[in-house]
Amino acid sequence: MDFIDLSAQQKLIRDKIQKRINEVLTHGQYIMGPEVFELEEKLKSYVGVSHCISCSSGTDALIIPLMAKGIGPGDAVITTSFSYIATAEVIALLGATPIFCDIYPETFNINPDGLEEAYDKAILEGLTPKAIISVDLFGLPARYRLIDEFAKLKKLFLLEDAAQGFGGKIKNSKACTFGDVSSTSFFPAKPLGGYGDGGAIFTNNNELAEKMRSIRVHGGGKDKYDNIRLGLNGRLDTLQAAILIEKLAIFDSELIMRNEIAEIYSSNLSSNYIKPYIPNKYFSSWAQYSIVFNNDEQRDKTILLLNSNKIPSMIYYKIPLHLQKVFNYLGYKIGDFPNSERISNRILSLPMHPYLKKNKQDYIIDTINSLII
Ligand SMILES: Cc1ncc(COP(=O)(O)O)c(C=O)c1O
Repeated sequence: MDFIDLSAQQKLIRDKIQKRINEVLTHGQYIMGPEVFELEEKLKSYVGVSHCISCSSGTDALIIPLMAKGIGPGDAVITTSFSYIATAEVIALLGATPIFCDIYPETFNINPDGLEEAYDKAILEGLTPKAIISVDLFGLPARYRLIDEFAKLKKLFLLEDAAQGFGGKIKNSKACTFGDVSSTSFFPAKPLGGYGDGGAIFTNNNELAEKMRSIRVHGGGKDKYDNIRLGLNGRLDTLQAAILIEKLAIFDSELIMRNEIAEIYSSNLSSNYIKPYIPNKYFSSWAQYSIVFNNDEQRDKTILLLNSNKIPSMIYYKIPLHLQKVFNYLGYKIGDFPNSERISNRILSLPMHPYLKKNKQDYIIDTINSLII
């Protein structure tokens, strides 16, 4: 059994993907070929924003907007303490300081109640708070009504890290529309995953869009040999774009399937486990289906049981960001963000993909429910 089965999807659309790849091999425009612009147009209208800028990874999709905003040494960027390293790494890479916030234990997303304290901490340290990076963890959008309110009040730039969130919604608004700029990842295991690295940036801001397009290719101006700012080699490959066009075409049907699978888990797993909480009018793209145990030992026992039954599982994330060695220099300690720390010790993600067969899912559920805890 696979944690994420990419081959089932490939079987379904392999001919179409092969055709798209062949077209790229025929025209030979491997860098910034027509498929890159076709994908950007399609993503832009899917999400419902004025600009989509494809790029080389979800990490570059975060660093490019921060560069466009000129964020650097002396600046503070507030973010969640429970995410993948890339969310905070991009802040530090630019010489700015990450200031962490705790999460809601129910949704694992940043708790906006902590924003004020983080803001004050930045001021106290002599930093200038410039931005918030919120994360739509495991596919569920963060609590944007409150985050946005705080960002506007303090004139902070809001960057939505929807690396895992593409396809999520709050009411009728799609993920990747909640930030001043929003970003996503096309890493293969993501809800909209390619066959390699890739990412995209979304915004309605014309000026920032122009800057970000320039940063994506070495800070180009009138042409690629006129360089007006520092930039990156941050382009999406034409081949990846060609593949993603076909994957986007079936994405909505896969979202429905992911939701059905999540529903089966939630209604059949024993009430001994805390199951994902989806707030009213929120929709998750179910990048992960994660349960939480009532104590640390239960998780260890469950992992052993799953392993002995050849059922894969993953811990996202074992170490919260504020306790990662790389951020020791920031001076955080155990106890600073109790929810992130407790969830790190008790969370477990189960196999989740649109093509998880009913008999396999029943096997996972029965195995977990058989554990006496
Ligand atoms: C929340 C979050 N942000 C950023 C990234 C970075 O994306 P990529 O791996 O495409 O660089 C990831 C990828 O795992 C992620 O989960």
